[in-house]
Amino acid sequence: MHDLLASLHDETYKFAILLVIPLIRTSNFDLTMKAIAVRPGTPNSVHERDIPMPTLEIIPDGKGILVKVLKVGVDATDREINDALYGNPPPGDDYLVLGHESFGVVQAVGPNVRSVKPGDYVTATVRRPGGSIYDQIGTYDMTSEETYYERGINLLHGYLTEYFVDHENYIVRVPKGLKHLHVLMEPMSCAAKAIQQAYEAQRRMKVWSPKRAFVLGAGQIGLLSTLVLRLKGLEVFTLARAKGPHLKSSIVEGMEATYVSTSETTLEELAKKVGKADLIIDATGSSSIAFNAMEALGHNGVLVWTSITGGKHVTEVRSDKINIEWVLGNKLLVGSVNANREHFESGIKDMAVGEVMYPSVLEKILTNPVDGLSNYKEMMRLLVEDNSALKVYVNVADE
Ligand code: BGC
Ligand code: ZN
Repeated sequence: MHDLLASLHDETYKFAILLVIPLIRTSNFDLTMKAIAVRPGTPNSVHERDIPMPTLEIIPDGKGILVKVLKVGVDATDREINDALYGNPPPGDDYLVLGHESFGVVQAVGPNVRSVKPGDYVTATVRRPGGSIYDQIGTYDMTSEETYYERGINLLHGYLTEYFVDHENYIVRVPKGLKHLHVLMEPMSCAAKAIQQAYEAQRRMKVWSPKRAFVLGAGQIGLLSTLVLRLKGLEVFTLARAKGPHLKSSIVEGMEATYVSTSETTLEELAKKVGKADLIIDATGSSSIAFNAMEALGHNGVLVWTSITGGKHVTEVRSDKINIEWVLGNKLLVGSVNANREHFESGIKDMAVGEVMYPSVLEKILTNPVDGLSNYKEMMRLLVEDNSALKVYVNVADE
């Protein structure tokens, strides 16, 4: 009886193989996977769709890495893309797969990959090089070309799907001990870059040694910038509208920075009280605040703008006052976008130190998980409607 079953099983197996192999071989049988996408240009077009599974072979020279997506974070950029204010599909497609804050586990690697192996946790950079000299030396975040390629944002599909493949150059290992901070790696890279840019630009001062920083906005970039600046030893004031105590103020205070509610103390009042700042990071998402910040910067200081403002807002500024103060004070304004591999690596190191200095503080940023790609409507709802949702992310799969 047992033998009979076994041979029957064998037969079934053979039959299945005979049936499946030709199917796989025919070109019209493609393996697909679920993805969350938008139709750029059409407001509120977020939807679920099937897309082809990527394979390692799409990357030349045996340098491909296949990543199983575990979690993907979403932010205001995704909201603006869904509002059709921003973003473009890859050429030839009428949809764009969303998602640029990735966290996953390596499934397979090409024969020439050395930096990661199956089972490693990873994240991926967002921008891919264009043709300028900056792109060619690994600083694609500084491209001088008008057209930029960003996965999940502009001209390239993103990570809100089940698997992705990319070149080893763009896959960054995440230490096991930081697994619980998963989707924060990409936002952290942007904060790390913004501050690195400020320091880099301030080499013009020869002996610049900043003491006081204002961080405008207590969203993910504001909070992560607060951490980077605290680790550099600065006195940091992080400003946001809502009166504390609340989650954001507890995260700021957990990093030994000062939370300031602008509904109690305006930026101008704060600058009068504690003095103007040597360094200001604007991460409010508001262009008028970005301009107002110019009045709170001290002599020889640097202001970094990081907000992506896809709207058409117009604002009035005290231009004579700002102009004379900026000229007489040798002040500097720097725009900062995106991040390259080095910023991911330095951001990840800062997170590791942050975990040691301020244990269990950073994970408080990860407020709103959504389970499964199919819950994309809830993901967008949280992103659009829920002001208390500090960080929305999708649990795509378990390991
Ligand atoms: C992303 C950056 C990107 C920027 C502009 C941000 O939300 O985190 O990687 O460069 O949007 O598209
Ligand atoms: Zn982003």
